[in-house]
Amino acid sequence: MSLTSRAAATLARQSIRPTTALRPAAAIVPQQQQRGRADVGSSIESHAHFNSPFTRGSSGKQDTTSIPSFKKYRNGSETGNKVFQYFMVGAFGGLTALGAKDTVQNFLVNMSASADVLAQAKVEVDLATIPEGKNVIIKWRGKPVFIRHRTADEIKDAEATDWQKLRDPQPDSDRVQKPEWLIMLGVCTHLGCVPIGEAGDFGGWFCPCHGSHYDISGRARKGPAPLNLEIPAYDFAEDNQVVIGT
Ligand code: FES
Repeated sequence: MSLTSRAAATLARQSIRPTTALRPAAAIVPQQQQRGRADVGSSIESHAHFNSPFTRGSSGKQDTTSIPSFKKYRNGSETGNKVFQYFMVGAFGGLTALGAKDTVQNFLVNMSASADVLAQAKVEVDLATIPEGKNVIIKWRGKPVFIRHRTADEIKDAEATDWQKLRDPQPDSDRVQKPEWLIMLGVCTHLGCVPIGEAGDFGGWFCPCHGSHYDISGRARKGPAPLNLEIPAYDFAEDNQVVIGT
């Protein structure tokens, strides 16, 4: 090779040689990326540390009996939470009481007597159809009721009786509203038989079951009956009409 061609080759090699030396990879990472990596590293370090809510005692052990504070997890203030809880308890309590009241009310309405049953609780009797000196027996609430149209002599006899000496002392005036009308339950006060009218030793009623005698006012006079025949509630709607069961 000639001198001239050698010089040309040397100049060509020098022109393609890099002007800067190669640096390590880390050296060419932009500075911004380097700062980001530093932040991530510090963040990982800060989260790697866990602060336990349980305090450590003097011995260095965790005190598991103390109650940790959860304030930072609460929504709103403590007073606000309590007001909401009281409101909810009160509202549900009110609704429950309302439901209970409706249930009890419906139960009582269903259990009370219907209109037709109440109508049967009263019986109207036309007294004009009962002649003097006669008995009539009607049915009222499943029980017999004696209605006696008493004569003047029977009234006199009933009023003249020394009632204070009877086993169930009661004057005739306490047993009638009108002296001519004696109205009483036809149920023997001994064991519940139905006495027979116009019979017995005292001109009133006689119970054949065990021999009890009642006078013309229905008072127990002889036998095992301990009480007088019971007088039901009644009222004279008109002169000749009585309503039993008022
Ligand atoms: S039931 Fe009338 S006397 Fe016994």
